[in-house]
Amino acid sequence: MKTIGVVTSGGDAPGMNAAIRAVTRLAYAKDFQVLGFEKGWEGLVTSTFRALTPRSVGGIMQLGGTILLTSRCPHFRKPESIKKAAETLASNKVDGLIVIGGNGSLKAACELSEKTNTLIVGVPATIDNDVYGTDETIGFDTAVNTAVAEIDKIRDTAISHERIFIVEVMGRTRGFLALTVGITVGAETILVPEVKTPMEEILGNIKENSEKGKRSGIIVAAEGVGDTRKIASEIETRTGAEVRLSIIGYAQRGGSPTARSRLLASLFANEAVELLANGQGNRVVGLQNGKITSIDIEKSCKTEKPLDLSLLKMARTLAT
Ligand code: F6P
Repeated sequence: MKTIGVVTSGGDAPGMNAAIRAVTRLAYAKDFQVLGFEKGWEGLVTSTFRALTPRSVGGIMQLGGTILLTSRCPHFRKPESIKKAAETLASNKVDGLIVIGGNGSLKAACELSEKTNTLIVGVPATIDNDVYGTDETIGFDTAVNTAVAEIDKIRDTAISHERIFIVEVMGRTRGFLALTVGITVGAETILVPEVKTPMEEILGNIKENSEKGKRSGIIVAAEGVGDTRKIASEIETRTGAEVRLSIIGYAQRGGSPTARSRLLASLFANEAVELLANGQGNRVVGLQNGKITSIDIEKSCKTEKPLDLSLLKMARTLAT
């Protein structure tokens, strides 16, 4: 019997539970046992885990968050912590470890993979969708839908009061969430960290819209663009329009995963378990052009995922 470890790490993402369920059940079907490390990397460093079985992961697929709990473990990437995690894997005879998390967690997984004989496979799960090697991460679709539902409501009040709203969404230093949300709510302006948008351009856009008869507007801003409060107040001062700021915040990380996030979790887990069953490690699974595949973990961690900036232009035309 082989032993597979599973850990969820970093910011939680809707669909992590669906991934834990799928890893456990698919691994058991191959006669592997599964150990769930608790509280993210902390569980690996302190050797805190519990056995997962097909029954113990029942009824969790529709739940947000992660039953294994998670943590930011800034200390983990110190050499002594990596060493301890490698010892945990060795002393518990873990043949393969599945790391479910975002960019930071996969970077840590990559560092750990250099210090252990345990095969490591990353499963990208983050609302930021910023992992290279996959078109989409687990949880992204849910976060997009959460933000869209909120902004549709904000649009109602924006229209009634003839106001401009800046809606700040998450995404850390990247604009994947803001861009997709912006397109799907018909935002008049989308601000992403990848493009420096001068204030004059934002004001010019508002003026143009106002001349076309638009009395309200939605600006979707990624948190990575900087102080949205300041942007709001400058727009208000310079246009004379009423401007409000709405920060959606952590609600984007919670809630029941959409069918798409659950499906991606199941398919990624299947690929991860298959890789380990075939003795392949140091990979990150992903979705590329509609196909489930995997790439080298180091390549994934060291390459920046590009944002399709042509979509910003398209979004502007769509919102005319
Ligand atoms: O990575 C997911 C994410 O929600 C980012 O969008 C955000 O910048 C960050 O986590 C917040 O981190 P924390 O939970 O540590 O406050």
